[in-house]
Amino acid sequence: MRIVIASDHAAVELRQEMADEARALGHEVTDLGPAPGEAVDYPVNGAAVGRLVAAGEYDLGLLACGTGVGISIAANKVRGVRAVVCSEPYSAKLSRQHNNANVLSVGARVVGPGLARLIVREFLTAEFEGGRHARRVGLIDELESAAAEASLS
Ligand code: RB5
Repeated sequence: MRIVIASDHAAVELRQEMADEARALGHEVTDLGPAPGEAVDYPVNGAAVGRLVAAGEYDLGLLACGTGVGISIAANKVRGVRAVVCSEPYSAKLSRQHNNANVLSVGARVVGPGLARLIVREFLTAEFEGGRHARRVGLIDELESAAAEASLS
């Protein structure tokens, strides 16, 4: 798969671990940074990854910040993004299987490098199961469409 990854300055090392894991699984990874020592506000890179995934330029996105929370909130403001913060592999797996999550976020101040690799592995290996889950994800899409229409009217 084509994977895009970014973080803020609080999660540079964890992001590199996550990117390495994705590459080890055979995926093509584009890393948006930041470089070590470069400060980036998390909403900027959360939105950047969200837009690229929502546009279909990448199959899935990976994010990291101090907690994983702020950058995932930013990504979720992009229509079509279903970003999840995970601190353990089970939720990462189920977020793909049931929620068709398309962006995974991890907190560098919460999760160590080995656990982050496991979380990334589960997220990238699991597949959306469709069926009843597709109907429920469709309901989320409807909420998003209704919100977009309300903001236009
Ligand atoms: C940056 O200090 C920190 O606020 C950020 O990385 C993240 O934890 C926000 O949710």
